[in-house]
This record gives sequence, C-alpha cells and structure tokens, in this order.
Amino acid sequence: MNSSDNPKIKRLGVGELPHGRPLQTEFDTGLDYPRLGSVTFRRGTLTDNQEALFNAEWPRLGRVLSDDPIDVDAWFGRTGHPTIVEIGSGTGTSTAAMAPLEADTNVIAVELYKPGLAKLLGAVVRGGIENIRMVRGDGVEVLARMIPEASLAGVRIFFPDPWPKARHHKRRIIQSGTLNLIASRLAPGGVLHVATDHAGYAEWIDERVDVEPRLAYRGWPWPEAPLLTDRQVITKFEGKGLTKDHTIREYLWERI
Ligand SMILES: C[S@@+](CC[C@H](N)C(=O)[O-])C[C@H]1O[C@@H](n2cnc3c(N)ncnc32)[C@H](O)[C@@H]1O
Repeated sequence: MNSSDNPKIKRLGVGELPHGRPLQTEFDTGLDYPRLGSVTFRRGTLTDNQEALFNAEWPRLGRVLSDDPIDVDAWFGRTGHPTIVEIGSGTGTSTAAMAPLEADTNVIAVELYKPGLAKLLGAVVRGGIENIRMVRGDGVEVLARMIPEASLAGVRIFFPDPWPKARHHKRRIIQSGTLNLIASRLAPGGVLHVATDHAGYAEWIDERVDVEPRLAYRGWPWPEAPLLTDRQVITKFEGKGLTKDHTIREYLWERI
C-alpha cells in the first residue's frame, strides 16, 4: 500500500503547513531570536471564492516553508533581478501597492496567516502583478532555510506584531539575532526597512538600531536609499491625522 492509500497519513492540503512542531532553528550565535507562541498560528477561513483561487494559483505563486533553498530566477522566470523579502505581509496591502512600482524587483511576501496570503494572491491574480511570490511560514525560518546568504536587495518588516506585554517582548521579531540573520541574507548595499506605529516597539527598536555591526543605521528618511521606501499605503491613523500615540516610525539600515 503506498502512502496515499494509508488513511493514517493525511495528505496536506494546498498551502498547508505540516502538522506538529514547526521547524525552528537552534541558532548558536548567542544572540536573541523571537520565540513564536502557538498563538501566532492564527486560523481563519477563506470564502469559497478565495479557496478556489487559492487552490488554483498557490502551486504556481506560493510555497510553504521547507528546507529547499529558493531559486529566484527559476521561480520568477527571469534572470538577474534584485529580490526583496517582506516578512509579515498581512493582507498584502503595501505589497500589492508597491510591487507594480518596482516591476524590475522580485518580491517574496512571507506570512503565516493563510487568509492574508489568500487576499494578496487575489490582488496579484486580478491585478496581473507578475513580480510577487509568497511563502507561508515563519519569516525567521524562511530566511534561515530558504534564502541564500548575501542574496537580497532588501528586507521589509511593516508593522510587526507589537507584543505590548513585557512577558511577550521575547516574541518581537526585531531582536539582535534576527538583525544578524537579515544582515547575512542581504547583499552588500542591501536595505532593511522597518515601520511601526507602536510607541513601545519604537523604543525597543531605537535601543537596537546599532546592535548588528553589518547593518549601518541610515535613519529616516534616507533619500539616497537604493530601493522604493514609500509604502504607498495610507493607514487608518495617517488618514485621520496622527495622534501622539500613533506616530509612524520608519527605520532604514544599509548592509555594509
Ligand atoms: C500587525 S500585522 C501587519 C501586517 C502588514 N505588514 C501591514 O502592514 O498591514 C503583522 C503580521 O505579521 C505576521 N507575522 C507575525 N510573525 C511572523 C513571522 N514570524 N513570520 C511571518 N509572519 C509573521 C502576522 O501573521 C501578521 O499578519
């Protein structure tokens, strides 16, 4: 009997992460890495239309976290274009708005949340956007396992989950180890762009802007930045006018 006939071995659905413990690298750098609580694996259902589109298009435009390094030229069907990874793309509002303005760039959106990916997939297919691909998984593991060293032109992290309670701060994605990993995946001259509207998280980032020696902090704005830094999206706070508690802070670093 082969495995597909064995009722005990469940076949994974399209875009589904394997059951059980998620892949988690044990880094031996002595630096800090975010530790994901199981809460991060948010559930959510897709509408019938989203489900149909997801099943039809994900195999071409998406993949799940694995130990197979991504061959960007093969995946995007073109050679020699710069690649940007966005971690935590959410519903992909910025991703879909920015990508057409940087058509020469390959954009890989990484997200755990399937309904968010389904929404971005819909925008990509309906908008005929050709330079976005998606990976479902933890951004740290995707960088560590699937992205070759010194291969990226940019990494974006827009409005990462703020984890406001002190006991959850260890889950924040901006940590010394993540910055070290990002520095190793960026090519020299590559850019890390982070945005937050959470005052506590901004303080946290302020304390870490200089912790990674290969990332030179360029502040904000940085007019000479070699990639698109305008997120293109007016957030609900920006639309209403910023209040003291909702100042948007943006950060840029250059891989040296
Ligand atoms: C507050 S939302 C922001 C979404 C989007 N960037 C935006 O600006 O609207 C944070 C997103 O990051 C995702 N996320 C959190 N930790 C992640 C991780 N380790 N890897 C990938 N995505 C992650 C969450 O599922 C969530 O969709």
